[in-house]
Amino acid sequence: MYPQWLVPTIGSAVVIALIACFHILPSHLATGAFWFNLYIERKAVKEGRSELMEFLKKYVILILIFSFIYGSLTGVGIWFATAVSSPRAISLLIHNYVWGWATEWVFFIIEITAIYAYYYTLGKIDPVNHLRLGWIYAWGAWISMVIITGILAFMLTPGKWLTTGGFFDGFFNPTYFPQLFTRTAFMFTVASIYALIALSFVKNESVKVEIAKKAGVWGLAGLVFAFILGAWYFAKLPKEAKELLNTLPYMKTLIKVMVISLVITAIYLVVFSFVIPKYNNLIAGIISAIVLFLAILGFEGIREGIRRPYIVNYVMYGSSQIISRDLPAKAVKNELEKVRAKGFLSKLYYLPPELRTITPENKVKVGEILAIHLCSGCHSMAKDGWLRPLPKILAGMDKETIKSLIQSFDSSPYMPPFAGNEQELDAVSEYLEKIAK
Ligand code: HEC
Repeated sequence: MYPQWLVPTIGSAVVIALIACFHILPSHLATGAFWFNLYIERKAVKEGRSELMEFLKKYVILILIFSFIYGSLTGVGIWFATAVSSPRAISLLIHNYVWGWATEWVFFIIEITAIYAYYYTLGKIDPVNHLRLGWIYAWGAWISMVIITGILAFMLTPGKWLTTGGFFDGFFNPTYFPQLFTRTAFMFTVASIYALIALSFVKNESVKVEIAKKAGVWGLAGLVFAFILGAWYFAKLPKEAKELLNTLPYMKTLIKVMVISLVITAIYLVVFSFVIPKYNNLIAGIISAIVLFLAILGFEGIREGIRRPYIVNYVMYGSSQIISRDLPAKAVKNELEKVRAKGFLSKLYYLPPELRTITPENKVKVGEILAIHLCSGCHSMAKDGWLRPLPKILAGMDKETIKSLIQSFDSSPYMPPFAGNEQELDAVSEYLEKIAK
């Protein structure tokens, strides 16, 4: 086990959620935008429309800055934040998918090289070769999505990997294709919103109106397909995940946020692409990007939330990161029973010796340490915390009530069974009673 990363008020899970959801904007822009870009460039070359180049320049520089500065920074941010908040889960993923990531990084390098070459040779080399650079970028970027989606989907539906432990059995899992195609459709919507933002800098009125219409078609088509493919994705979810969608009240809120934001996005596209494209402006564009961010927050929040109580579904519990089952193919053993017999403290090697056994003097302190490991991944410990703060949920309860509540987690659909022995349960309950007062 590793020390737990406690983030005051916000909570580590929310930090990851904010970084990761923001990352979707530049990353899906990076994968989607060039298809639109190439479409416009082909038109410019074929029909000899040099005035379209003004848009292309603005669009590519926006992709370059937004995707390759903010996208790269938040991509690395996801690694840092997840590695400190759930080191064992990241370790599990790395042990299975290190070659997946290695492959993805090869495509990143292709992507990055291609976009710089594309931008700096725009209008300077023969148009056919320039288009080729664009194709290299577009495919390179999309293939990086093809790879990372396998690892993302694995965390919710590991599929046959649970019995075989095989790389591709986990990679091509039951939600892989629905998720890949939903993201693929959605990336065109992200690309079209950014095209409208780039257009707000374009001076030529007729170019502005012409490209806005095309961007609107791409964006709305992306939304329609994302909606249809998203329904396929939800249909493919495991039974337990579908039940959580119904039982957890915050899921309903996330669904509402997602749907309302997507409707606003559709309205924005209709208005500024078809009705009043001339009045398209930066402020409206930025507001619509924020709305799009909320839609993403809703979808990704649902996708992450429905694998509770696990961090890797059916394999590793959230917060404590205890292995929840035997995986004979990987020679991995269920840790829950062992931890219940020997105590969770037996796994906290980094604790000073005076905190490794419970005494009447250190009981509340050790209770706090245990609660931080076993609960803080999903609950704030402070009253003003953003993430289901325990002092509020448990307000006024006494130790015995808390104890029996925790014992009932054995049959909870969203909370892991208590991973500790009797004495530890007593210490945690005593600490929780104290903060619930
Ligand atoms: C893997 C994530 C996770 C972990 C770990 C976790 N919880 Fe929860 N807990 C939840 C979720 C999700 C809910 C549902 C709250 C909601 O509606 O948003 C919840 C709800 C609760 C509730 C409200 C009653 C109920 O059953 O809904 C209590 C009390 C609670 N948790 C206590 C704890 C304590 C104490 C721990 C640590 C021993 C803990 N939880 C660990 C995810 C978790």
